[in-house]
Amino acid sequence: MSEIERHEYDVVVIGAGGAGLRAAIEAHALGAKTAIVCKSLLGKAHTVMAEGGIAAALGNVWPEDNWQVHFRDTMRGGKLLNNWRMAQLHAQEAPDRVLELEEWGALFDRTKDGLILQRDFGGHRYARLAHVGDRTGLEMIRTLQNTAVAKDIDVFMECTLRHLLTDGERVSGAIGYWRQSGKLITFSAKAVVLATGGVGKAWRVTSNSWEYTGDGIAMAIEAGADLIDMEMTQFHPTGMVWPPSVRGLLVTEGVRGDGGTLRNKSGERFMFRYIPEFFRADTADTEKEADAWYEDKRNNRRTPDLLPRDEVARAINSEVKAGRGTEHGGVFLDIATRRPAEYIRRRLPSMYHQFKELADVDITKQQMEIGPTLHYIMGGIRVDPDTEATTVPGLYAAGEVAAGMHGANRLGGNSLSDLLVFGRRAGEAAAAYSKRAGAPKIDEAQLAAFGQGLEAPFQKGGDENPYAIHSELQDTMQELVGIIRRRDELEEALVRLERLRARAARARVTGSRVYNPGWHLALDLDNLIGVSEAVTRSALVREESRGGHTREDFPKTDPEWGTKNVVIRKRDGHLVLATEPIAKVPAELRALLGDDKPTGEAATGTKTPVAAGDD
Ligand code: FUM
Repeated sequence: MSEIERHEYDVVVIGAGGAGLRAAIEAHALGAKTAIVCKSLLGKAHTVMAEGGIAAALGNVWPEDNWQVHFRDTMRGGKLLNNWRMAQLHAQEAPDRVLELEEWGALFDRTKDGLILQRDFGGHRYARLAHVGDRTGLEMIRTLQNTAVAKDIDVFMECTLRHLLTDGERVSGAIGYWRQSGKLITFSAKAVVLATGGVGKAWRVTSNSWEYTGDGIAMAIEAGADLIDMEMTQFHPTGMVWPPSVRGLLVTEGVRGDGGTLRNKSGERFMFRYIPEFFRADTADTEKEADAWYEDKRNNRRTPDLLPRDEVARAINSEVKAGRGTEHGGVFLDIATRRPAEYIRRRLPSMYHQFKELADVDITKQQMEIGPTLHYIMGGIRVDPDTEATTVPGLYAAGEVAAGMHGANRLGGNSLSDLLVFGRRAGEAAAAYSKRAGAPKIDEAQLAAFGQGLEAPFQKGGDENPYAIHSELQDTMQELVGIIRRRDELEEALVRLERLRARAARARVTGSRVYNPGWHLALDLDNLIGVSEAVTRSALVREESRGGHTREDFPKTDPEWGTKNVVIRKRDGHLVLATEPIAKVPAELRALLGDDKPTGEAATGTKTPVAAGDD
């Protein structure tokens, strides 16, 4: 094995999105010698794909808003599978995190009175998303990055960490490689914070970029941590569908928040189809009357186009399956009819340019063609709600890689606030742990074994193309573990994943280690396939439909399943699955939820669809 570059820190944060940056800022502020290690260039994280805003009950637009309502919306959106304590901390602390971001230089859009402006998003009772046009995630990353860099926190960019090191039960560091030179690098650390995001690149149609290969989830389970609810994946209803080269690229929910409506190929506002009371009421002849009916029945919520994401994505899927979709297999999103061109360009500048430049569509005049895109995973590493500690001592996780906060379905805008609230908490707890823990011992045999594994693809002389394997994985997950799932298809996915794993072991890598993306992908395949298996096995276990997990063969939401997490851990090299009870919501918080129930039956395209979860 070649020589390894070595570093020593109190806290190593893996990932430089919102959660990683916020964790590093906190750990550094508390006196821990801190490093940020990221696979890509600083500023390129998936955080920038949360475009429309950050959810926080500031009450600037609706003074009635408060943390209790935000808590209730989050729990209802998550179909009550959420970790209640995370949902509570998130709702309580999000406003402070937004104001802190503003103090650090984030330039939010303003109300006429100069307060931070807030916009509507799906499942939120009040207009609650603080935003910067449709570039909120970008502004957040810019602000956090400037803050971290100004504090002289060490940053290792284009550096992929691939395995966690352990010293007995506890974590002791990580090993990986520089993407440019291909040289190996290792960190000894008293505490590690995983903030690596999700695994979108396992699907064909995704808003995620190349970095999202499930690295943190895979490293955590290998080191002994628990995963929960991996079946809960989020298909954002609106990704681009045309041209093919940009299929999946996010179209912000802010379009609907600012008045955009969904229509099928006949121009019908089809979301009304998915509200059975509306069909029964049958009172509205015009669109205006339909909206007025909705507003009246749903406590002033403006439109069914802003139902939670799982419900809108299923409805779009049903429309397309029923032959009411567009030429390229999507539906239309229209904002031009309702808003003047100047408003659209001011409020949604990125969407305007994205469609103009990539699809030759002028959204101030024409409809957008959109469809669901894999955007997020609610499942992930199990953490303690207050400290974000995983079940492995010294290992913390925050942001998308961690689970619990969003239950079965995340509300839009709750990810940016999640990153800040739990990034800060993880950084704080990791710094505290690093102070009380002694220096870890690096197990040289373990380090050597991991190092040899990283170099192995060059020596194996394999006969399989890693790009072809990745492409087949994406087809498998898209076709068989998509929005609507069935036992036979999930079982078929497991068979295919096993075959892909065997082929990945024979991945052919040529050339040198210097900037070799084929080698990087060959290594990423293990994570992609392993995490895909965790998703698929969990999806088989949960025999109900809830949030982001819809089983055609179990279309009902089963109250019994609403009390359980699906848990996965690795023991003796094998995945072990179990169901374990979710912590009960205490009475005073339960009272905030009222009589609300999660969705009763999922829209699979073959049943009468039911929509719920919105006011
Ligand atoms: O649609 C969006 O702007 C995405 C936001 C989010 O995922 O939170």
